[in-house]
Amino acid sequence: MADIQTSSADKKDKEYFTGTPQEAPGFFLKGAHQYDWGLKNRLSRVFNPKTGRTVMLAFDHGYFQGPTTGLERVDQTILPLEPYADCLMLTRGIQRSVVPASTTKAIALRASGGTSMVSPMEEWEGEIDGKKAKLGRPGFEPLSNESTALSIEEAIRLNASVLAVQVFIGSAYERQTLKNLTDLVDGASRYGIGVMGVTAVGRAMARTPQYFRLATRIMAELGANVVKCYYTDTEFDTVTSCCPVPIVIAGGKKLPELEALEMCSNAIQQGASGVDMGRNIFQSDAPIAMMQAVRAVVHENLSAAAGYQMYQDLKASLKA
Ligand code: R5P
Repeated sequence: MADIQTSSADKKDKEYFTGTPQEAPGFFLKGAHQYDWGLKNRLSRVFNPKTGRTVMLAFDHGYFQGPTTGLERVDQTILPLEPYADCLMLTRGIQRSVVPASTTKAIALRASGGTSMVSPMEEWEGEIDGKKAKLGRPGFEPLSNESTALSIEEAIRLNASVLAVQVFIGSAYERQTLKNLTDLVDGASRYGIGVMGVTAVGRAMARTPQYFRLATRIMAELGANVVKCYYTDTEFDTVTSCCPVPIVIAGGKKLPELEALEMCSNAIQQGASGVDMGRNIFQSDAPIAMMQAVRAVVHENLSAAAGYQMYQDLKASLKA
């Protein structure tokens, strides 16, 4: 019944909870408590509100590497892992061509690009047909010479929760890649979409705590809502501590499974809000088992040793 028609006799049918103040709860995610509703909701799809953490499955490598080992057929190797991920980190090309639109997983959409593995500035020595050869093409730009590679309208069409942008602090194109970040933050924040700054490492950029403190903090200060960087064996807690937004770690090159799980566990115990992992999952001997073990380490605080046991048990049972 419309309120205007309510008489005092009807009052028993309505409950106004006049003695109970409406709650004003905070928000679970680091640095996100003052964001608007839409952005908080999107970040709640990336990060599990119960644990505050995420397992992102990264398979965007093709944007500069082409068919990376394990990603030759994303439909065959990655889609079986989708149920175990909180978020899929991918390019729009793979999203449209391979990932079912019925997925309920959050999307971290690659939004920068424009260079490839074979575009260094200097010549470098490699092999062609088994023979040493001078590769690279002088005059071509180095890998850090990225642009934004996605419009905000496209991000909305693809229902992205966050946009991923590579930032090359300390490179020749540092300024340009930071501008890519701030341009995407300006565009994405108009629509409540998040931006994840991805710390790129290159030859000139050492993987030290000092470097990651600098890079992650700069990206957060310039508006990134999430920052991705590599784990460091020392002082990683200082990297997470002085970054005011959540940090997720990249997996990096393939490690033995126990070492990869140790890296995840150490990062989580030192303040990381999750992992954005690719090769250590899809290049594993048993990707589904590894994915579940990583999940347990991230979301259930399972130790690396227990996670490894879980990996082995699942691997054996999946083979049986
Ligand atoms: C590389 O730049 C891509 O953004 C990958 O998503 C990222 O490196 C994470 O993948 P991985 O765990 O294989 O290092």
